[in-house]
Amino acid sequence: MKRCDHSPVWAELKAHFASQAQSFDIRQAFAADAGRFQALSFEAPEVFADLSKNRIDSTSLALLLKLAQDCGIEAQRDALLAGEPVNHTEGRAVLHTALRAPKGATSPFNADVHASLDAMLAFAEGVRGGARGEITDVVHIGIGGSDLGPAMVVQALQAFGKPGLRLHFVSNVDGHDIAPVLKGLDHRHTLFVVASKTFTTQETLANAQTAKAWFLAAGGTDVARHFVATSSNTTAAAAFGIDTAFGFWDWVGGRYSLWSVIGLPIAIAIGADNFRALLAGAHAMDEHFAATPLARNVPVLLALIDVWYRNFHGFTSRSVAPYHQGLRRLPAYLQQLEMESNGKGVDREGQALGYGTSPVVWGEAGTNGQHAYFQMLHQGTDVIPVEFIAVKRPNHGHGGEVGALLLDQHRKLLANCLAQSQALMQGKSAAEARAEKAPTASASLDPDVLARHRSFPGNRPSTTLLLEALTPRSLGALIALYEHRVFVMGALWGINSFDQWGVELGKALCNRLLPRLESGDATGLDASTAGLLARLLA
Ligand code: F6P
Repeated sequence: MKRCDHSPVWAELKAHFASQAQSFDIRQAFAADAGRFQALSFEAPEVFADLSKNRIDSTSLALLLKLAQDCGIEAQRDALLAGEPVNHTEGRAVLHTALRAPKGATSPFNADVHASLDAMLAFAEGVRGGARGEITDVVHIGIGGSDLGPAMVVQALQAFGKPGLRLHFVSNVDGHDIAPVLKGLDHRHTLFVVASKTFTTQETLANAQTAKAWFLAAGGTDVARHFVATSSNTTAAAAFGIDTAFGFWDWVGGRYSLWSVIGLPIAIAIGADNFRALLAGAHAMDEHFAATPLARNVPVLLALIDVWYRNFHGFTSRSVAPYHQGLRRLPAYLQQLEMESNGKGVDREGQALGYGTSPVVWGEAGTNGQHAYFQMLHQGTDVIPVEFIAVKRPNHGHGGEVGALLLDQHRKLLANCLAQSQALMQGKSAAEARAEKAPTASASLDPDVLARHRSFPGNRPSTTLLLEALTPRSLGALIALYEHRVFVMGALWGINSFDQWGVELGKALCNRLLPRLESGDATGLDASTAGLLARLLA
């Protein structure tokens, strides 16, 4: 394997960027090539990807693909899928793909994976069917990878949920997260799921202790019946008083764990068959990633454009705009997936990198984002590529007149989505703005000045991912698409995308500061921290 900047193709890309590509204009490219949309839109399982509104031409794309070849992306992918210890700083394989391989597949740990999956799904069906008494509320306690995936998926697949069963997700160590949830619960009808790969995470243990104290104070006696755990540290879970614990393996990374027993709340919410459909969708994307030539491999193409923007155009962030309210937590989920994976400053050998890695990933569901930060996307001084996600067929669950109105709302939603990518690309020249009738209130302004305020630069890139419908299968495929894209980016950058040492220092300092919040001892602290501590304790 080869780091991107050690490949001679890197220099070729630099030269191409300097000589031509930096002045590439998407509008001119469409005008010059009637087949651009066909040439730059791709099919992956459940996901149609329109890449044509990006700043890429056939030369940049060919060079980027050559870079991927030269960096050994295929060999690196194969090593990942075969279970080689690609997470070398923790000495671990990374096998989330094995979690969604069908029973009997020649995939690592297949028998263990299916035994665990069957047991977890049987439990989930039991809860839905009343095996733990009438359960109306499930409170899932976890953070990071033990929260974001399940919380995002349960919200996205609300239409597949069991009526009358409420799912709550508590993650923050801030008691304002769990306190209001507890207020609405009846301990007799509540099941707590404590999710922590390590079962040592401060936030999760604190929330679990509070939940247990609340349960006992409310008159509950049978902790073992109302608390279950999903963890690879089942001993610690038992010490907490939990005797139903679903274990998993160290080769499942936290931010890749929703496919494992960490997905228990998903399975309780949508049932075993739907959970299997989620896995099947992800597996279909795994097969696409594993077998499709690089030039049509959608996660690879997306990653190449990401690297093109990050390292040549110098764009530092990417905005994700899912035009489906159910996907409103997707940007938060992607923040961990992408930024915890690829927010690294050294390569696999520990050498400092001379180029940027993970962009900032951020966003909000459309159309809400349009009324908040899209102004900056259209007219701000930074170019921020936008990723639109649109869903063709809605699932509102209403018929009659209300259903018809909701369908009309869906058309409006889609029109907004298309309009935004169009506006970003097209822009509006000062001459066009000048030709428009000015609002009466600005009539006293110089028309040229006003036209400059009302014009848009355009040529702002975007990608549109299109799903037929938001279903367990399509969502599984979409998430797997992102996972593989993040892997390819990391592989090109030559980094380990599967560790997260950057979160450790803050945890250690927090543990050292905690007793000082009682004692007030500021010995040895920097002046700012000491000053803040004094004010907090005054
Ligand atoms: O934020 C660091 C991290 O280790 C994540 O990678 C992980 O998803 C999260 O904490 C939660 O960890 P655990 O599942 O062990 O509680």
